[in-house]
Amino acid sequence: MAQNDTFTARDFAFTPNHDETARQNFIGGFKKFINFDVEAALDRRFDATLAPAYEAAHGAPPATRKDAVAAVENDPLFQTWSALTFHSQNLMWDAVQDTTDRIIEDRIETYRQLRDARPAGGSVSLRDELVVRAPVSTTEIHRQPGGYWRERRADDIEQGLNYTGTVELYRSAKGMSARGSLEKDTLGQFVAEVAQRRAPDLVPARVLDMGCGTGEQTHAYKKVWPQAEVMGLECARPLVRFAHGTAEANGLAIDFREANAADTGLPDESVDFITSIIMFHETTAAQTQEILKECWRLLKPGGLVLHLDVPYHAHRIPLIKQATNDWQVRHNGEPFWTGFVELDMMAELARAGFDPDHAFADYESAGAATYFFFGGRKP
Ligand SMILES: C[S@@+](CC[C@H](N)C(=O)[O-])C[C@H]1O[C@@H](n2cnc3c(N)ncnc32)[C@H](O)[C@@H]1O
Repeated sequence: MAQNDTFTARDFAFTPNHDETARQNFIGGFKKFINFDVEAALDRRFDATLAPAYEAAHGAPPATRKDAVAAVENDPLFQTWSALTFHSQNLMWDAVQDTTDRIIEDRIETYRQLRDARPAGGSVSLRDELVVRAPVSTTEIHRQPGGYWRERRADDIEQGLNYTGTVELYRSAKGMSARGSLEKDTLGQFVAEVAQRRAPDLVPARVLDMGCGTGEQTHAYKKVWPQAEVMGLECARPLVRFAHGTAEANGLAIDFREANAADTGLPDESVDFITSIIMFHETTAAQTQEILKECWRLLKPGGLVLHLDVPYHAHRIPLIKQATNDWQVRHNGEPFWTGFVELDMMAELARAGFDPDHAFADYESAGAATYFFFGGRKP
């Protein structure tokens, strides 16, 4: 805990000790082995054995996600991959919980000090009611025990600590660390770069990061546009608190609010740059449309909406990956993945009010990782 109101980032960080680090690194390596080596073996088996067997039985090769699932689901290697994936996810949550249990009381006390002292000058605004509807609010995304929402004590930030403890582990195990860098706000920096490329004339006075979670990516926007009022909006209260404490401990004045991205309560045409990182694939198609409408309502003329999300559209990934993704949707806490990638995003944007001549839905790469970007400008 910090003394005399002088805070460093570490005072509020997720800090595994030696033994916890060793265990968490092992789990990161184990997950990477499953995601790369075991999946590569499954790819080869699909091409050499499972797809030909499907063709022999059905008179045509597998052509759709459903066909691919039928081709793999009784295969022992596929079942081994799925069992390893399921259990490695359990191991991951167990391992970060150990660190959280050890530091939680200290971090809550530090949160209270940061909230009261506001050393960076940011703010936090909480609401008493649950701000989003089921199934989003009743789903344990990533199978995080208790989901994003669970509160077990006053001023709870437990779910923020647990989530942040898994982020780099999860991303590097998926080969998704943009540029291979381990900086906390790497993805936010990438979003800001893409925004500057798409709208070089834009100098935002107000930035809104929707579904900001633990708020680490939001830091990038305050660093890139220090003159801007930067807001992080999130529907899960433990994450909102955690995001506020982290920004204050890092010396960044960001305003965090607990709100539904589909119903922000902000005035019409009041934001210059609206963004989100991997929020939409965790919500329903109906909410996606509501959130896009809200973005259009909030956007100032000349402003930019730019959302980043997963690029798992069927035309871009092989059938075997569609089958493993289908399993993740059914069994591993990613229930909205398939619905998200099956949306016609250009049509969704147009339906929400975006001018098709100034809207986009395409892909950008950072190092080995490729992301789906969608949004538009308001003329
Ligand atoms: C995968 S997390 C990503 C968090 C953060 N953007 C990041 O990249 O670290 C998605 C976040 O979106 C939030 N979210 C989902 N639906 C939302 C909604 N309707 N309104 C506000 N937040 C939402 C979730 O609670 C979750 O924290």
